[in-house]
Amino acid sequence: MASVTSLTDLVNRQLTSALSATQPEADPLLRRSDRADFQANGILALAKKAKANPRELAAEVVSRITTGDLIKDVEVSGPGFLNITVADRAITENLAARLADGERLGVPLNEDAGVTVVDYAQPNVAKEMHVGHLRSAVIGDALRAMLDFTGERTIGRHHIGDWGTQFGMLIQYLFEHPGELAPAADVDGEQAMSNLNRVYKASRALFDADEEFKERARKRVVALQSGDRETLELWQQFVDESKVYFYSVFEKLDMEIRDEEIVGESAYNEGMPETARLLEEMGVAERSEGALVVFFDDIRGKDDQRVPLIVQKADGGFGYAASDLTAIRDRVLNLHATTLLYVVDVRQSLHFRMVFETARRAGWLNDDVTAHNMGYGTVLGADGKPFKTREGETVRLEDLLDEAVQRAAEVVREKARDLTEDEIGERAAQVGIGAVKYADLSTSPNRDYKFDLDQMVSLNGDTSVYLQYAYARIQSILRKAGEVRPAAHPELDLHEAERALGLHLDAFGDTVFEAAAEYAPHKLAAYLYQLASLYTSFYDKCPVLKADSTEQVENRLFLCDLTARTLHRGMALLGIRTPERL
Ligand code: ARG
Repeated sequence: MASVTSLTDLVNRQLTSALSATQPEADPLLRRSDRADFQANGILALAKKAKANPRELAAEVVSRITTGDLIKDVEVSGPGFLNITVADRAITENLAARLADGERLGVPLNEDAGVTVVDYAQPNVAKEMHVGHLRSAVIGDALRAMLDFTGERTIGRHHIGDWGTQFGMLIQYLFEHPGELAPAADVDGEQAMSNLNRVYKASRALFDADEEFKERARKRVVALQSGDRETLELWQQFVDESKVYFYSVFEKLDMEIRDEEIVGESAYNEGMPETARLLEEMGVAERSEGALVVFFDDIRGKDDQRVPLIVQKADGGFGYAASDLTAIRDRVLNLHATTLLYVVDVRQSLHFRMVFETARRAGWLNDDVTAHNMGYGTVLGADGKPFKTREGETVRLEDLLDEAVQRAAEVVREKARDLTEDEIGERAAQVGIGAVKYADLSTSPNRDYKFDLDQMVSLNGDTSVYLQYAYARIQSILRKAGEVRPAAHPELDLHEAERALGLHLDAFGDTVFEAAAEYAPHKLAAYLYQLASLYTSFYDKCPVLKADSTEQVENRLFLCDLTARTLHRGMALLGIRTPERL
């Protein structure tokens, strides 16, 4: 494996050294430009600082740049920008090195990366998953893949809601009505959820109507928390049944979830008293009306009253905050995390602000170990209102995914001439699920987005289907080329459209690094969409198989090939498949 330094980096280095006579380490502020290949805007600020004329300074910098193998041309433009053109040969050689590198496409690995624990895909036991859980799963999975690709080591944590007072009611009901839940081994995802729903409804009805049952349910909570064996066994049945359901949904989502990474709230049960004791001893938490709480000067509610984070309730019970604080200790001390990333609905951002601040005061988080909540926005219906069924109920995630696949099947069927029904089914799943993921990932995570299936599976516009088609089209060209194989010919002059495509291909690694560092999968999505668009205009303007010479055909096939591999890799980082034919 040999990593490739991007052209941007190479040009940057030359400019930085040309600038260093004026100011060492100055940033040339290089970016891609329409006028030339790159534009450097850094001289303006530099001139201001040195009280120099920017155009004169720019001219001076230009005189220090040697044009040749890398930079073909550099000129001053406007108030003191530099327009830079790179040599065709440099572009082709750089891309050839990327193709030769295989899987990683020349993208370097960060050698001193850290360990990020990603908290994502965290549904709740005995409850249906909804679109909010979809976002966490999709965004978390993509961020993880992107971080891994840069060299970061990621560990997943699915902090499922598998603990708390609501289990008293459920367990007590099951205790009094044994056999209501079929053994987890005997059911599929759908049956599991329908069993859980039935038990939930029945126990809820009893709980609301029968005071004595309510009392027995309350006692059951105490038994659960104190680790009573029989109670734990019944609790485990709920967890197991729910996992069957979770796995079926994640499988539909084409997402790999590992059992050892499902570490829910219950896992931190034993550590919670110690968390409370430590916080109290350190003076981070204080007693208030019997409860153990943490106050923050800048977090206030009604009447300017401080809003506390409750570590332990007055009745001695522990809740959501205590499990999260205990999880932080575990992730820092035992998993040796350097970064904690939470992919959780933005509506929980206050909770995390308080939890993180508490952990900082306790010293569990510090300059070397930081925590971030990648709070995502709400999923809206096509009408722009929070996503609900016509009857006003929350939409079942499975139904939504099934519908997406169904719509995709229509699109695939329309386009496909020579596909069998089985093949259509397989493609439809890849297109439909890809469409759902891409629509989610192509919007900045903190923004709300519209769940609009018509738009999602459209062939035109910024959709995954458009990208998948671009990929499949390239594969078809490569197949048609038959004996002629892709090969780089650095001696050839490049067409404008080839240069634009080539320079964009070269920016793949830089884009992934930036998107991963900023937890911004939408930047990768935007990159891929632009890649497909640049490919389309290349394809319109530059005949591939009918090019003038064999060298030209080979070189263009080579551009096609690298484009396909880059699309494939980029889409895979987003969790989206690229079928070979569509
Ligand atoms: N189970 C929670 C929910 O459905 C999300 C858990 C988020 N993670 C965490 N560490 N609190 O809202």
